[in-house]
Amino acid sequence: MPPEVYLESPPNGDFRAMPARGEGFALLKWVTSFPHNSAHGLPVVTGALLLSDAGTGALRAIMDCGSITSLRTGAAAAVSAQVLAADGARSVGVIGCGVNGAWAARYLAAAGYGPGVCVHAVPEPAETLAEELGWRVGARGEAATQDVVVTVTPGEQPVVLGSDQRAGQHLAVLGADVAGKSEVELPVLERCRLFCDEWQQAAGGGELAGAVAAGLVSRDRVTQLGDVIAGRAEGRRSSEEVTLFDSTGLAIQDLGIAMAVYEAWRQGSVEAPAVAL
Ligand SMILES: NC(=O)c1ccc[n+]([C@@H]2O[C@H](COP(=O)([O-])OP(=O)(O)OC[C@H]3O[C@@H](n4cnc5c(N)ncnc54)[C@H](O)[C@@H]3O)[C@@H](O)[C@H]2O)c1
Repeated sequence: MPPEVYLESPPNGDFRAMPARGEGFALLKWVTSFPHNSAHGLPVVTGALLLSDAGTGALRAIMDCGSITSLRTGAAAAVSAQVLAADGARSVGVIGCGVNGAWAARYLAAAGYGPGVCVHAVPEPAETLAEELGWRVGARGEAATQDVVVTVTPGEQPVVLGSDQRAGQHLAVLGADVAGKSEVELPVLERCRLFCDEWQQAAGGGELAGAVAAGLVSRDRVTQLGDVIAGRAEGRRSSEEVTLFDSTGLAIQDLGIAMAVYEAWRQGSVEAPAVAL
């Protein structure tokens, strides 16, 4: 998986080209983040994903980026909680209940977490999500003090403050996925055990990017989640420490979901039209 390529589209957002190869397939995801689109009723994350046969180069499928991205982003948040949250952690705070926040909440619920507190900039998305999952709507400060806290906002202002921190929490920070976005106050970062999905991406454009640029966080302080899952690195060390997972989103995660969708189509459990190119 080479690093993703960013193409800025100021002042509205950016495009990303995300390639990955594995298990006999290769993919390219051409995807946006246009954070202000939702104010106009348009998706923040949109585009197309091309899935090819890695042996012949033949194009096998074209998939909708929004769906694949939501599925893998939500799954990454839940997996980070399963791997890093303290034993007995159950309650959830979701700050930002838009497309990807809602999927993070659904996956956490599916993994047995909850009930949760849902927070959004305007009431309706939080109310809808809370009703769907049997959770409740609350204030930002309430959500930020739950056992597992997921942030999926456009990253324009901190939504987890130093005063929110409680011993043993797990924070999954998803909204900041390009340089300049941030959801967590710097003193929180400085006190957490830090994890990320992939160091280069996180250091260059994730929640950690600001702290890395300021020289406050270096490579040796940050563990990749995959290394913990593979048994190559230590995860949580005590029930007291606060773990923070910085998710920037990886093409290899998209590949996992895209392969599953393709297989479901081959098995006949997903319908899709065949197109001649
Ligand atoms: N880490 C990843 O893998 C990944 C994947 C997809 C999207 N993202 C990022 O996540 C962010 C959200 O994406 P989305 O597709 O869910 O967008 P979305 O617009 O559907 O949801 C974000 C919502 O957050 C709300 N919001 C803004 N400020 C808030 C605040 N202070 N408190 C609570 N809610 C607030 C907005 O009203 C907005 O609707 C974007 O920055 C996007 O680039 C990250």
